[in-house]
Amino acid sequence: MLKEHFKLISGTANRKLAEEVAKLLKVPLTPVEIKRFHDGEIYCRVLESVRGADVFIIQPTSPDASLNLMELLILVDALQRSSPSCITAVIPYYGYCRQDKKTKAREPITAKLVANMIEVAGVKRVIMFDLHVAQVQGFFDIPSDNLDAIPLFADYIANKKLKNIVIVSPDAGGATRARSYAKVLNAPIAIVDKRRPEPNVAEVENVIGDVKGKTAILIDDIIDTAGSITESAKILLKFGAKEVYSFATHGLLSKPAAERLEKSPIKEVVVTNTIDIPKEKMISKLKIMSIAPLLAEDIKRTHEGLPMGVVYEGMYKKLEKKVK
Ligand code: R5P
Repeated sequence: MLKEHFKLISGTANRKLAEEVAKLLKVPLTPVEIKRFHDGEIYCRVLESVRGADVFIIQPTSPDASLNLMELLILVDALQRSSPSCITAVIPYYGYCRQDKKTKAREPITAKLVANMIEVAGVKRVIMFDLHVAQVQGFFDIPSDNLDAIPLFADYIANKKLKNIVIVSPDAGGATRARSYAKVLNAPIAIVDKRRPEPNVAEVENVIGDVKGKTAILIDDIIDTAGSITESAKILLKFGAKEVYSFATHGLLSKPAAERLEKSPIKEVVVTNTIDIPKEKMISKLKIMSIAPLLAEDIKRTHEGLPMGVVYEGMYKKLEKKVK
């Protein structure tokens, strides 16, 4: 049961997800007014008292990343000037996360910059979902949760009862994520050798590992332009894979992702609802799985001071029995 001083607030980035979470927690969303001035400036006001409350704001930085980030910061500012006991930012998709290190001279590290901005605004805890790389958690000096979709996707994959599967990472950076899925699903892994000559351009030349005659399960954190997974799918088939499925937590689906996915040999593309996908991008092979139950459970446990690890352990135990 949620205690009295609990408030759940939604920004405009993914209200559908926030409503789903609110329904599961059996609490109403605290009303807020969010509007824009003619020059694009954002205005936010919380429409009821939050004095002494444990406040959770759900706002992924989905497209438009900068706008949604700014809205989150302004909402936090409005809240922290209203004496809540704690503000938790629930950021199901943490944008600017891919720029997590300098790969060339004079580049920024936006994953750290954004973490600083969130803390300075007044956030005391963050809940995120499948960060591009887990070490971004260390960019925050406040408590942070990095939930993941592994039990959700792995259960879906196990239920499909596919034979002879291989878990594939579309690049070396995703190998740790792929290995986690491979462990749970008791399957081998392979890695696509992807290069990025420039942002949003994916070049693939090689596959490390044996995919011949196997059903390849591509695992990624983000589908942005879909260059990485569609090029990966093509090379996997060239290297003898029987068929390709793809799973990614965050469906950014920037242009021309929908078109690329539609034309690609991938049989099914599964993403979560960390990002609200507009109707025009809903191609027939796209399936959306909800992270709302996981988020709701984590919010509830954070509020009540209970651990979340046991929830994941329970899900993994059930999966283990299914996969055996
Ligand atoms: C990159 O390191 C990420 O994990 C994704 O692979 C990437 O963001 C996907 O981008 P796109 O769909 O544009 O290839």
